[in-house]
Formats: sequence, C-alpha cells, structure tokens
Amino acid sequence: MDSILVKGGGALNGVIPIAGAKNACLTLMPATLLSEEPLTLTNAPRLSDIATMTQLLQSLGAEVASLQNGLVLAMSSHKLDNHTADYEIVRKFRASILVLGPLLARDGHAVVSLPGGCAIGARPVDLHLKALEAMGAELDLRDGYVHAKAPGGRLRGAVVEFPFVSVGATENALLAATLAKGTTVLKNAAREPEIVDLAVCLRRMGAQIEGEGTSTITIQGVDRLGGATHPVVTDRIELGTYMLLPAICGGEVECLGGRIDLVGAFAEKLDAAGVSVENTERGLKVSRKNGRVKAVDVVTEPFPGFPTDLQAQMMALLCTADGTSVLEEKIFENRFMHAPELARMGAKIDVHGGHATVTGVERLRGARVMATDLRASVSLILAGLAAEGETVVSRVYHLDRGYERVEEKLRGVGAQIERIAG
Ligand code: UD1
Repeated sequence: MDSILVKGGGALNGVIPIAGAKNACLTLMPATLLSEEPLTLTNAPRLSDIATMTQLLQSLGAEVASLQNGLVLAMSSHKLDNHTADYEIVRKFRASILVLGPLLARDGHAVVSLPGGCAIGARPVDLHLKALEAMGAELDLRDGYVHAKAPGGRLRGAVVEFPFVSVGATENALLAATLAKGTTVLKNAAREPEIVDLAVCLRRMGAQIEGEGTSTITIQGVDRLGGATHPVVTDRIELGTYMLLPAICGGEVECLGGRIDLVGAFAEKLDAAGVSVENTERGLKVSRKNGRVKAVDVVTEPFPGFPTDLQAQMMALLCTADGTSVLEEKIFENRFMHAPELARMGAKIDVHGGHATVTGVERLRGARVMATDLRASVSLILAGLAAEGETVVSRVYHLDRGYERVEEKLRGVGAQIERIAG
C-alpha cells in the first residue's frame, strides 16, 4: 500500500485547477442507464471511484469509453443485458446503490447488492428503498441483495417525503422518477449542488423536472429519455480542501474554477477565522498573510450548511488556531477518526459523542499517521504541510478515491510531497 511523505513548514503560493465533482459524476454516470442514446460527460474527475462506477455500468451491459485522458466519459446503454449489480463491485463504494433507481425505471426489474463505502457510520439505504416503494416498487431483501420489481414493468409517480435529508436517496428517487408514469413530488429533498447538476443533465436528456436546489422537487415522468452532453459541476469538496492550504500554511492560492456559491457556509467560517477569500475572474483566491487563524465553531449540516465532507480538513486548520473551537458532526455518527491521528502530530482534541473540542497549538509536529477514510486522509496531509518536520500518511488508497493527481497539484503550489510506493 502506498504512503505519502510530506515535509511541512513553508507557505504555499500559486494556482490549483479544481476538477469536476466526484459525487456529481457518480450520480450522473448511472443516468446513462435511463436512455438508449449516448450520454457524454465532460470535466469528469480522474479518480478510482469513477473507474469503479465504469466497471459497474459495464457489468450491466453499458458501454463506457474514457476519452481525453479520462476528462470525457462517453457512455451508451442501448442494450442492457444484465440487471444484477454484483457484490464484488458494489462493496467498493456506496454510490453503487444509485444504479437501482435507473435500472428499475427503465426495465422494471433489478437486483443490487447492498453497498459498502467509507467506514464513517452505519449508512443504511432505507430511505432509497422507501422512496422506490412509494413509487410502486416491490422489494425483497435476500442474501445481501435488494431484489426489485416494478409491477407492470413501470414505476408510478408518487409523493415522497423524506424524514430527513439524504443526498443519495434524493438522487435515486430523482433518477427513477424521470421515467415513472405520472408526477412525483420529492419533499424534504437534498439541495446539494450535485443534485442541481443531476437535474440539469436529466433535463438535457428530456426529463421534466422543477424545483432542484429547493427542498421540493417535482418530476413529471416521460416515456423515454434521449442523449445529452453535460459538463460535471466543479468539486466543492476538492475546492474547499485546497482553499485550506494557504489558511493552514500561509501564502496565497487561487483555485481555478472555484465559485463562492458552492462553498458559502465554509467560506464564512474561513472569513471568521481571519482568512481572506476573494472572487477572481478564474475562480477564488485565498490568502492568510498575518499571524495564526482564530478559533471558530463549526456544525455540519446538509447544503447550504457546512459540509460534513470538509469537517476533517477544517479540524486540521483549527488544530493550529488561536483559541478553542468546537466542531459538531450532525450527519455521520463516526466521523472523528482523524482526531487521534491528528493528536499524534501534537493536536489537542477532545472527542465527546458528536462533538470535538480542539484547543489550538502553535505548531504541529510531523509523525507517522494512518488514513482512515477519504476526507480524513487529506486532513492529515494538510496537517503535515503545516507541521514541523516529516509526516508519513499510510493507507492513502482512500485518497485516490477522491483527489486526482494530488501530489502534482500540491507540488504546483510549492508543497514538498511525494508518494512512496509500497
Ligand atoms: C453523500 C456523499 C458523501 C457526503 C454525504 C453527506 C456521494 C457519493 N456521497 O453520501 O460524500 O458525505 O452525501 O453530504 O454523493 N441515511 C439513512 N438512510 C438512507 C440514506 C442515508 O439513514 O437511506 C443517513 C446516513 O447514514 C447519514 C445521513 O442519512 O447519516 C446522510 O446521508 P446521505 O445524505 O444519504 O449521504 P450519501 O448520499 O451516502
């Protein structure tokens, strides 16, 4: 397993291009299953999760070609000869459950293994299943698989009210509803930019959707969808992560393609901590020129609140802030696994239930640490870049699921970082 070696201490300056969003791409790709015509995604991120979704779609009979060095995904599902998503692929990532809605909507039947994914809590899929049941699906859970059928071969429109906000369940229901008979109303729907991006793409394919980006989405089912070409929205989590570089190390970094509307709540916290964020013609420029950042309290929430996927990276910053910060994790119950690793680098963190109290120290020290999940891995790299001496982060395969060419991008702003093959 590869490790990453980071030598910390210096300020970082320069530009970083931000890729297309992993989480948007992972929900856009299954949209190909809804149509016999080609769907082409541009601005796709080059990540192992995308390769795994490619493998999953191909196992169902879809054609997926990766063009222009992975930036363009040309997909076609003119014939699907398999409706079973196998455990061996599905277990690798949770987004695989997103093939269930489209398969069911198009052909009226599907068998999908229950998914795996990051070890950050229980992460059930009950809301996905309840939404599809409300649309008439008959589900049977056997041997770790969901066996699903739509009576008469077609789902029907329904009013689905989610008891709490779920990004994935909103996506699965939205995908399925495009081909259902009649109108579907999704209430208490997720409002994330990735949902908006999915709705825009589905509309390009001929779907009738209104209200994306609000908590009520209305979908008028159509008989068939066509092809489309769609650019994947900017990755707001990669953006937020790299906005933290000058915040934690000092210096000035411009994130190309960054937009403030994608990271509003996060940018407000940076501002409160004393970090400057400016719009430029090409993206967002972030700088910290004097002194330590100030402590700030953070509560993770569904969009437009502070994203849970930036909590670990924000904690890395607050480890060196002046004062005491409290981070409250409200989305996942087990998402402070980076805290003991940061403590190995000299951070003072006290975790109590869903809260972590971080007392800033003047300097972190390099150490050997272990990545426990995707966002935790990058928080350890950020901490290592700010620390005195060398940090070795092991188990970085998590990182490759969500950050493309991470060493190259970081070296581009002056970071001392290298991968150690092992
Ligand atoms: C997506 C993102 C993930 C992000 C998360 C929250 C993708 C591929 N992943 O994950 O990076 O951290 O949104 O912004 O887009 N839940 C249930 N039952 C369900 C579904 C969810 O109890 O059927 C719970 C989850 O365990 C969690 C909460 O709801 O506690 C929110 O999860 P959800 O929004 O569904 O996250 P994902 O779509 O899995």
